[in-house]
Order: sequence, then structure tokens, then C-alpha cells
Amino acid sequence: MFILGIESSCDDTAAAVVEDGVKILSNVISSQNEFHRKYGGVVPEIASRKHVELILYVIDEALNKAGITLKDPEAIAVTHKPGLVGSLLVGVSAAKALAYSQRKPLIAVNHIEAHAYANFMEHSDLEVPHLNLTVSGGHTLLLYIQSPTEHEVIGGTLDDAAGEAYDKIAKFLNLGFPGGPIIDRLAKSGDPKAIDFPRPLLNSGDYNFSFSGLKTAVTYYVKEAKSQGRDLREEDLLASFQQAVVDVLVTKLLKAAEERQVSTVTLSGGVAANSLLRKILSEKGTELGLKVVYPRLELCTDNAATIAGLAYHLFKKGLRSGLELSAEANLEL
Ligand code: KG4
Ligand code: ZN
Repeated sequence: MFILGIESSCDDTAAAVVEDGVKILSNVISSQNEFHRKYGGVVPEIASRKHVELILYVIDEALNKAGITLKDPEAIAVTHKPGLVGSLLVGVSAAKALAYSQRKPLIAVNHIEAHAYANFMEHSDLEVPHLNLTVSGGHTLLLYIQSPTEHEVIGGTLDDAAGEAYDKIAKFLNLGFPGGPIIDRLAKSGDPKAIDFPRPLLNSGDYNFSFSGLKTAVTYYVKEAKSQGRDLREEDLLASFQQAVVDVLVTKLLKAAEERQVSTVTLSGGVAANSLLRKILSEKGTELGLKVVYPRLELCTDNAATIAGLAYHLFKKGLRSGLELSAEANLEL
């Protein structure tokens, strides 16, 4: 069964065709990074306008690459929350128009659940229950996953998302956008022990996160070093920041795995592409006898293949949306 998936929750315009929830026939992503770069972050108004310009071409390309026509998918799936409302609305409107004109069922998909689902697409033998850490530019969530469509939120960020901290620090240092991959690369030649940045909420006894204070600690450190005329090696600063982020993420994920007695942990979301996070989680997880799983890079960042993939399971459960479906900015899982 083919499903056409559409994703436009932030600044990537994406469409994909997936068969039976796992087989990716096409996965087209048009990144808007070049339009947001000079602002150092996503500008919501620009994002929604670009989605309007791009969405039909992206859908067309996804169908062409999959070698099918609009008549072939059995359902149209779309991200309807959470995200930037103006961006979400473009995808939701396109999906509704297609569902109506082609008389196909419409399936609403939660963007975060689709991030977590990426691991099911990648690993057919993925064990449940397991713990998932979804870390992106908009979210940092710990989920106890019981099946592709059932889970419990056991923790989340109280302020900035992990990716947001990367992006804001990169903006502060004029490094470029998005900041995550740039900092990841530069930090490789830095000393992670050079600066002892705080590990927020590391021992809070719950599974919540906070990255806003860490971001502020980094900016204060830079300002102070400059005002005192001290030499500052940028790579050391970035490596130390990244080590602090990864320490908190890995510690909390592993603690939760122990408490919930699962034997598998998964990563997803844009920050799951981070090389240090993957390395440390794999090392520490393996030491504890855990299976550590993460998706390939193109399924970590925003894409429509995971939307179409998860929609297959929602479809099988009988979930359908009506044409009154609307976009929602908030996160409710
Ligand atoms: O999942 P995603 O594409 O979009 C959201 O739903 O937010 O995640 C984008 C985020 C950005 O903040 C970006 O800086 C971060 O993921 N990111 C990374 C890396 N690659 C992308 N963060 C750290 N290390 C990376 N290698
Ligand atoms: Zn995302």
C-alpha cells in the first residue's frame, strides 16, 4: 500500500512515497537554509512563503521519483502539528486539496511521533518497549515507546531545545546556519575538557532538560574572555559546550532506560545526527548491555518519508481525518 506523505512544519518542504510503512520509494526534501542563513535562524514568514512556492513541485517530484501518479497512493498523510503554524498550514492545505480532489483518505501525523518512528523504518526488528530521545531544533523529548503509535512522554525541555542551543550559539559566534552540523565539525578539533560548562538538571531526579542557561553560560564566557583580552580557542569552546549537551542527554537517557528496564534506546531528530552524541551513547550504552539504535542521517532531520511511514500504522488502526483538519503549533502527544 502506497502513502503520499507531506511535511512542512518548519523550514523544509518535503514529500515522499512509502510502501507499507517502510519501503521508501521517494523522499524529496527542499531545504530553505539559504533563505534563512543570513538571519541566523528560521524566519517564520519567509518559511511559509517558500513552502507555498515549493510544495507542488516537491509533491510532483516525489510522485515522479516513485514512478507513480496521484491516482496511486491509497492515502494522503500530512504533518499537522507541532511546528510553525504558517508553515504547517501550507502542507495541510495541500494535503486536504489532494485528498478531496482524489477522493483519498487524509491522515494527520504528529511531527514528533514521526521523528521517533524513523527507527522503526530503519530497523525491522526494533524491540518494544524502548526509550527514544527525540532531539531537534524545536524539541527535546524522552519517550517510552510501546509501538509505532503508542508512547508515554517521560521528560522534555523546560526551555530551549538542544538544537536551538546549537543554532543560537552558532548565531552568536557568526558561524552560520544551521549551527548543529557546523559546531559538530569544528568541535572535532577542540578540547572538550577546556571549559567546565554547567550540565543543567543533570541530577534533578527527573527526566527534564534545560539548555537556555548553558547557552547563556557560553555567551558570558565569550564576552568575559573578550573583555579581559584573554585568548579564546573557538574549537575548545565549542567542544566544551557540545560535551556538556551530550553528557546531559546521554546520562538522562541511560538513567531512564535503567529505570524502565528496557534493553534498547533510540535517537531521532536533527541533533541525533551529532557525531559525539552517537559515539558516546553507543559506547556507554554498549557498556551497559543496551542496544543503541539511530536512523540514517536523512531520516534524522525533517523529512516526509517518516510521515508517510507512520501514517501506514495510523491508517491500519482506522484513524482518518476530515477536511476540517487544521494546523496546530502546540505539542500534544
Ligand atoms: O529535526 P530537524 O531537522 O528540525 C526540527 O524539527 O527542528 O532538526 C534541526 C536541528 C537544528 O537545530 C540543527 O542545528 C540540528 O538539528 N542539527 C544538529 C546536527 N545536525 C542538525 N545538531 C547537532 N549536531 C549535528 N550534527
Ligand atoms: Zn523535526
